[in-house]
Amino acid sequence: MAMVCLSDFEAYAKKYLPKIAWDFFAAGADECSTRDENILAYKRIRFRPRMLRDVSMMDIRTKILGTEISFPVGIAPTGFHQLAWPDGEKSTARAAKAMNTCYIASTYSTCTLEEISAAAPGGLRWFQLYIHRNRAVSQQLVQRAEALGFQALVLTADLPYTGKRRDDVRNGFRLPPHMKLKNLEGAFEVCKMSLLDPSVTWNDIYWLRSLTHLPIIIKGILTKEDAELAVRHGVQGIIVSNHGGRQLDGGPATIDALVEIVEAVRGRVEVYLDGGIRKGSDVLKALALGAKCVFIGRPALWGLAYKGEEGLQDVLRILQDEFRLSMALAGCASVSEIGRHLVQFSKL
Ligand code: FNR
Repeated sequence: MAMVCLSDFEAYAKKYLPKIAWDFFAAGADECSTRDENILAYKRIRFRPRMLRDVSMMDIRTKILGTEISFPVGIAPTGFHQLAWPDGEKSTARAAKAMNTCYIASTYSTCTLEEISAAAPGGLRWFQLYIHRNRAVSQQLVQRAEALGFQALVLTADLPYTGKRRDDVRNGFRLPPHMKLKNLEGAFEVCKMSLLDPSVTWNDIYWLRSLTHLPIIIKGILTKEDAELAVRHGVQGIIVSNHGGRQLDGGPATIDALVEIVEAVRGRVEVYLDGGIRKGSDVLKALALGAKCVFIGRPALWGLAYKGEEGLQDVLRILQDEFRLSMALAGCASVSEIGRHLVQFSKL
């Protein structure tokens, strides 16, 4: 089977993954309207391409928090990579490093942070944190990540409770017994607690600040009000995200929320986006509307399901090629030439 675009990897994963794993990866909350809207919203945005602009030499590199990556697409944090491929997050780390981009490792990884670091020494990695009721568990995780060379802390803000994903409820989804949430294993034994803390507030950013020198990025912001609060609480970056439509169903597509957030932030911190990125032209639209970089969630899992590290590299390479081509066809030879002038919202 020729793998030409990301949908080919999706079709492969759907065909070959066990149903319970496919359903878990694909799930959105409730009726999945926000999950689907993340993708549909890109179709309502049209380009205003410019011509005759010498696109013979293309530069698609960018920087996030000062570190260069090969193109503005990284890997969003998703849990349980061993459901897609036996080597799990180790393969993810190797693919990200090979493609010279950023991998955000989830609190809910099925490999330890130590294993992930050792799999791809020197790769650019950020650590995604869910704050647990037992703060000592979270504190220890943050400090482990910093000691291992993770370069930023990503606090996920949109999951005080897990959204209602109907297929997971129907399937009685749980991790198979041979897979573990490796980073929380020891902690659970000590504290007998496994629950996320729904009492987290903006003040906890100060608590996190007191634990680590790492830059703090907040993930799950969808409004200008919260973007302003994030800046005021001293974060270094914002990921506009609705958790791939897995939390509150009925919220906006992330590409639609991006505009008001970029306007509110006024360049004070970097703004990133995830949700619904499936083509290089989606990346170009998000950058045109002010995102510094985007991240992919499910497509990375499809790549892993196809051929582990190699499959994920294929996914990233296809996105990279499509992004370069879209830029050239829109008349941009470097990322710095991408701007708001490149897009219009269709009246359809
Ligand atoms: C997620 N997401 C997520 N986010 C997070 O902060 N920590 C996590 O552990 C997870 N786990 C997770 C598992 C699965 C199976 C999915 C699909 C998603 C959300 C993820 O980071 C991201 O926001 C979305 O996946 C982006 O949307 P797309 O690219 O999947 O459309």
